Amino acid sequence: MNFKNKVVWITGASSGIGKSLAITLSKENCKLILSSRRKEALMAVKALCNTPENVVVLPLDLAETDSLAGITEIAISCFGKIDLLINNGGISQRSPIIDTTIAVDRKLMEVDYLGTVALSKALLPHFVANKSGHYVVVSSLMGKFSSPFRSAYCGAKHALHGFFDALRLEHDKDNIKVTMICPGFVNTDVARNALTADGSKQTHQDEMTEKGLNVEVFTKKMLQAIKKEKFEAYIGKKERFGIYLKRISPRLLHKLVLRSKVR
Ligand SMILES: NC(=O)c1ccc[n+]([C@@H]2O[C@H](COP(=O)([O-])OP(=O)(O)OC[C@H]3O[C@@H](n4cnc5c(N)ncnc54)[C@H](OP(=O)(O)O)[C@@H]3O)[C@@H](O)[C@H]2O)c1
Repeated sequence: MNFKNKVVWITGASSGIGKSLAITLSKENCKLILSSRRKEALMAVKALCNTPENVVVLPLDLAETDSLAGITEIAISCFGKIDLLINNGGISQRSPIIDTTIAVDRKLMEVDYLGTVALSKALLPHFVANKSGHYVVVSSLMGKFSSPFRSAYCGAKHALHGFFDALRLEHDKDNIKVTMICPGFVNTDVARNALTADGSKQTHQDEMTEKGLNVEVFTKKMLQAIKKEKFEAYIGKKERFGIYLKRISPRLLHKLVLRSKVR
């Protein structure tokens, strides 16, 4: 698989991983549709792309699931087809369970899980009709094992694996691919934008996120995984070994996470 002449729709394209994906893919002769809530920030990313004339800005809010079918129709009409949907838009969370309002749990599920599911379902008939399509879902290592103070985030990201593993099975016959990307720490604004117990943003950076992979390095590895049509890719530093440790000894992983600096 290569990206040449493919139409790629990226959510969460206004910053961090999505922004880096857009700029990198624009050098591979793709046509891009960039989505997130902030139109001005998306326009700024478009201006940084190699061929801005091949880039369309299409704002959306993943929490407004009822709007996503109509927006998908517009997205398909931009270039007449869509080859890949990169479900990257999302928010994180930093707060103890005991203090976290249910509104925060609901918000994380609405944006990270239901928004992604609604958008992917809206696009599914197009992929089925074309007998081709590739869903890329930016989950997290927190979609495979958990860490304290991210309960709502872990719940929403774990749920994505349940849904998309079923989609991959149901639509294997339609030549539809699913790649789950599980980043470890990547140095973006994800921690600053994370919701705290009352729903307000954390606003400051985490030490571990700061020390995480450079976003361009991460993007390169992510695009390799997509090209290889991997089912799942774990991309990070040593934290990614938590995936393998959970398979061998969940109790040992529990002890190591308790001892780690991840807060
Ligand atoms: N960085 C990490 O360490 C890390 C680790 C694991 C997983 N991830 C995942 O990677 C993805 C990208 O995060 P990032 O690290 O690049 O963080 P980021 O810089 O905070 O980017 C998040 C993106 O999601 C968009 N977004 C947030 N809420 C939205 C909504 N309601 N509707 C539509 N778009 C929305 C934001 O755009 P607007 O504000 O313009 O809407 C922004 O473009 C997320 O799914 C995150 O969970 C990141």
